[in-house]
Amino acid sequence: DAGHYDNGGYEHYLLKEISEQPDTVARTLRGRIDDRFHIAHLGGLNMDAREIRSFRRVKIIGCGSAYYSGQMGAQLIEELARIPADAEPASEFRYRSPVVEPDTLYVAISQSGETYDTLVAVQELKRKGGRVLGIVNTVGSAIARETDGGIYLHAGPEVSVASTKAFTSTAVAFALLALHLGRVRDLSPADGRRICEGLRRLPEQIKEILTLEDRIRELAKKYADSPGMMFVGRVRGYPVAREGAQKLKEISYVHAEAYPASELKHGPLALISPELPTVAIVPDDELLDKNLTTLGEIRARHGRILMVGHRTSEAADDCIVVPKNEVELDPILLTIPLQLFAYHAAVALGRDVDRPRNLAKSVTVE
Ligand code: AGP
Repeated sequence: DAGHYDNGGYEHYLLKEISEQPDTVARTLRGRIDDRFHIAHLGGLNMDAREIRSFRRVKIIGCGSAYYSGQMGAQLIEELARIPADAEPASEFRYRSPVVEPDTLYVAISQSGETYDTLVAVQELKRKGGRVLGIVNTVGSAIARETDGGIYLHAGPEVSVASTKAFTSTAVAFALLALHLGRVRDLSPADGRRICEGLRRLPEQIKEILTLEDRIRELAKKYADSPGMMFVGRVRGYPVAREGAQKLKEISYVHAEAYPASELKHGPLALISPELPTVAIVPDDELLDKNLTTLGEIRARHGRILMVGHRTSEAADDCIVVPKNEVELDPILLTIPLQLFAYHAAVALGRDVDRPRNLAKSVTVE
């Protein structure tokens, strides 16, 4: 209940929670980075090195934004720990009688720790002998109690219905988990060090991104009256695009679709016109050229483009440039301008930002 918490002088809890992220990310990291051995300390996992080496697969479940953060997490685990990993909505997982494997590590994600679909999926996994970790914000919640161990986010209470600080903290928790699994398996000390140093830079870089708010407000006003928006990203950028689209539809009620940029030409390119602007996630990584080519294809169909990345480009109408971290960690930072964009679009459209219609903060019923 929002009434119990102070809005800290912000007009909306959502803006307060977006603005808290330098601090909440620092809290998720606190005491968990070892700069000597370039490893993560995650005592709450209750897993020894032998067990960690025995997993052949990681399966991540959660609902809504928790699921998108899980998609980000799956990529971090594949890249850093080289274990096949994927994410699935817990709401689907529980209904399809999944095969529960003894050499799979299951990870359930929930801000509230009370989401019914996720809780039932965890219970089903446990019944079938699955090893389940929780990445949870609310201490002592149902999912935290049901899981065998896990990582608490320590992001503090999230009041606004749209998840923001819990999302970034979950992604950070996954980076720590991926580092931990990786350093017990194949990840080199040099890469471990690179990730540890990257993680330490995040809070300051988030502060820098928050200083872009005035510009993002103007862009949100410019694009908010569109009947819909397309969000595209490739590989690491795709979960960022999905979460950006989710935030926009959830609080501004502007229709938004997220697609892998690589899939545009297989269908959705037919939608592109001046009436459907695209938010393109374009990090400086090995896919930069491919992404810039996609921008050219959108441009050729007279689509307007707002590019979010690490540089400006003439292929885009507008650009939001964020500080660069390690390629694996950049998705966390790229998410933040999209939160501000959705927030200011919702404000510009006069929406009930903290309590969007038809939604509950946590869905504790079927
Ligand atoms: C996020 O903005 C949404 N409100 C929603 O998708 C949410 O992430 C989902 O319902 C899961 O909630 P949980 O993290 O509390 O389990």
